[in-house]
Amino acid sequence: MSPAGYPGGMASVVVRCEPLGVEVAVAPGQTLLAALRAAGVPIGAACDGDGICARCGLRVLAGDAPPPEAAEARALAREGFKAGVRLACCVRPTEDLVVRAAYW
Ligand code: FES
Repeated sequence: MSPAGYPGGMASVVVRCEPLGVEVAVAPGQTLLAALRAAGVPIGAACDGDGICARCGLRVLAGDAPPPEAAEARALAREGFKAGVRLACCVRPTEDLVVRAAYW
């Protein structure tokens, strides 16, 4: 089955959402939040991707996301997230990932 949410061409990476089992293609430079929304995967985002609310926090189960930039690092620290949690609106995946949300 091909990943959801990418209309054509070559996807750079694929993110699998567990335990949904849904695979979402992420275009080069696209945020994980945008890719999940495009694929119809439910994702919290009260600030609509401004990196403020931290509702889009996902645990990365496998793969390496690029290190958080300063704004994301501040939000993660402020919310007390443990290592391995990333904000979907701030992450632009560069390799395949497996992620999990508590509400999936
Ligand atoms: S959508 Fe609010 S921090 Fe990501």
